[in-house]
Amino acid sequence: MSNLVFTTKNPQTNQEITIRPERAEERTAVENLVREAFWNVYRPGCLEHYVLHQLRQDPAFVLELNLVMELEGQLIGQVMYMRSAVTLEDGTKLPVMTFGPIGIAPEYKRQGYGLMLLKYSMELARQMGAGALCTEGNIDFYGKAGFVTGKSVGIRYADDPEADYFIVKELEPGFLDKVRGVYHDPAGYFVDEVEAIAFDAQFPPKQKQKLPGQLW
Ligand SMILES: CC(C)(COP(=O)(O)OP(=O)(O)OC[C@H]1O[C@@H](n2cnc3c(N)ncnc32)[C@H](O)[C@@H]1OP(=O)(O)O)[C@@H](O)C(=O)NCCC(=O)NCCS
Repeated sequence: MSNLVFTTKNPQTNQEITIRPERAEERTAVENLVREAFWNVYRPGCLEHYVLHQLRQDPAFVLELNLVMELEGQLIGQVMYMRSAVTLEDGTKLPVMTFGPIGIAPEYKRQGYGLMLLKYSMELARQMGAGALCTEGNIDFYGKAGFVTGKSVGIRYADDPEADYFIVKELEPGFLDKVRGVYHDPAGYFVDEVEAIAFDAQFPPKQKQKLPGQLW
């Protein structure tokens, strides 16, 4: 599965779209893409390129689902997945997956590429045996891929049990039937901000801005 390459055409522009595993030699380019996609979106600057950098070495990282998207050979998107779990009421762990960062280069946002990459990667995750996905994000986007709030199906986000932004998606029908549990983000997502700032200094200078709508 790790060598799978998907190609299609953008029906409007006839440009070729490719989705394939990330190559080792393009790691910095993909981190820069993540930096461009997330910069000043959720906070002044961003941490997600450092999160990706760290997660690649994490035992929960899913190598086969570390994907990039190209348009006519140019990197325009990426997504990566992690193995995670829902802790059930009896303390047992129900294996699921989570994903992210997922990012699309700023000039290609809102043209359908993010949803295409997400749906393709979800199908690969399903083929790998993932029964469900849990993540945090904007339902306006993820709802288009069939996500619902976790709390509506009995799964609460440990950090914020009432959160509407904690969302889940069954990949195997019925997988979450009668499930009651709590979801914790994999530990690897929590990075040291001082280390993240030092890491960011390796990239071209970019201005951090405090903008309306940011979360932090
Ligand atoms: C979020 C992201 C991956 C979405 O990819 P995209 O290619 O821009 O989105 P798409 O064009 O596939 O969006 C499909 C639909 O989802 C919804 N949607 C997408 N982004 C949205 C947003 N920021 N706010 C509200 N709705 C959104 C819209 O309904 C959109 O259709 P429309 O453009 O016709 O209205 C991309 O915008 C991105 O990289 N954002 C910054 C990083 C980020 O937030 N990543 C996700 C972290 S949870």
